[in-house]
Amino acid sequence: MNKKIVLLPGDGIGAEVIHSAKDVLEAISQKFNHTFTFETHDIGGVAVDNHGTPLPDQTIQACKLADAVLLGAVGGPKWDNNPSHLRPERGLLGIRKALDLYANLRPVKGFPKLLHASPLKEEIINGSDLLIVRELTGGLYFGTPSERRDNGNAVVDTLTYTRKEIERIVEKAFQSAELRSKKLTSVDKANVLESSKLWREIVEEKKADYPNVSVDHVLVDAAAMKLITNPSQFDVIVTENMFGDILSDEASVLTGSLGMLPSASLAENGVGLYEPAHGSAPDIAGKGIANPIAMILSSALMLRYSFDLDEEARAIETAVESIINDNYHTADLKTSGGKLVSTTEMTQLVVNAI
Ligand code: IPM
Ligand code: MN
Repeated sequence: MNKKIVLLPGDGIGAEVIHSAKDVLEAISQKFNHTFTFETHDIGGVAVDNHGTPLPDQTIQACKLADAVLLGAVGGPKWDNNPSHLRPERGLLGIRKALDLYANLRPVKGFPKLLHASPLKEEIINGSDLLIVRELTGGLYFGTPSERRDNGNAVVDTLTYTRKEIERIVEKAFQSAELRSKKLTSVDKANVLESSKLWREIVEEKKADYPNVSVDHVLVDAAAMKLITNPSQFDVIVTENMFGDILSDEASVLTGSLGMLPSASLAENGVGLYEPAHGSAPDIAGKGIANPIAMILSSALMLRYSFDLDEEARAIETAVESIINDNYHTADLKTSGGKLVSTTEMTQLVVNAI
């Protein structure tokens, strides 16, 4: 198979972890006889520095022509005081919109060896294996441009959703639930927000098309509480953009480290984008100690969802699992008695295991 992959390293540890994913994909292409070609483009703060915009046109064009996109992370203190159109995050939101990446899948599954690093007691976290399906191109993130009024003393952010936008993400979530334990939890704030009322109506309508999937509705505040008191009750969670942003960060640390969790952002027909759930971690950037596993596992999701290469994806996941079971870990995972390794050492271990 011949595939063209665009790499968007971005800022902070992005460049280090993208390098790891590329090494691992090269090992996969050798083992399974594929040809992957890579092309690197700027996004985020580094693009502001090099091109005066967080999302240059050539980056968008290259992504549209690619078979898949891998993204490291964006953001850092250097750009924190920039006006909003020159913030790195604008680049990420812009590429999500430009590629119509409406479905963000964030699987949360712990590695048994690492559960002791979870902030929760082991008996609570045990057996947790959930998937957050987050709407990614609507809601508060993409309302009519935010405004300051009354000499800056009043602000307006708008939350808009269309029926079509809600239907497609809800369908994606039902389909994901059918492939897993067939349990869907829709999270909203239907006791307050009109958008949530429509959301709930649509979930109820769609239920008939997926008779094998059981559905419940949970208010977002209760969902936040249930995620830490009884996370194993969840299978697939579907929710709107902002709620999904918050709940997925909460869910991601349950398993011990944010450094382990991948994500996939998918369009209806176009190219998919894959990125770790963690951010750019400017405090450790350039030190060679970042955990590359979330990025490496994101490249496995790319093989599975964009290229339909399930065996190759599993080869990466099995390699990662075996390294963790051998007690290797990067500095983010404080495990006693384990073998502490750098980013490149961890990558090489995964490559060797493949
Ligand atoms: C995420 C991030 C982004 C988001 C930021 C960087 C704009 O937190 O991917 O979850 O809020 O979507
Ligand atoms: Mn987030």
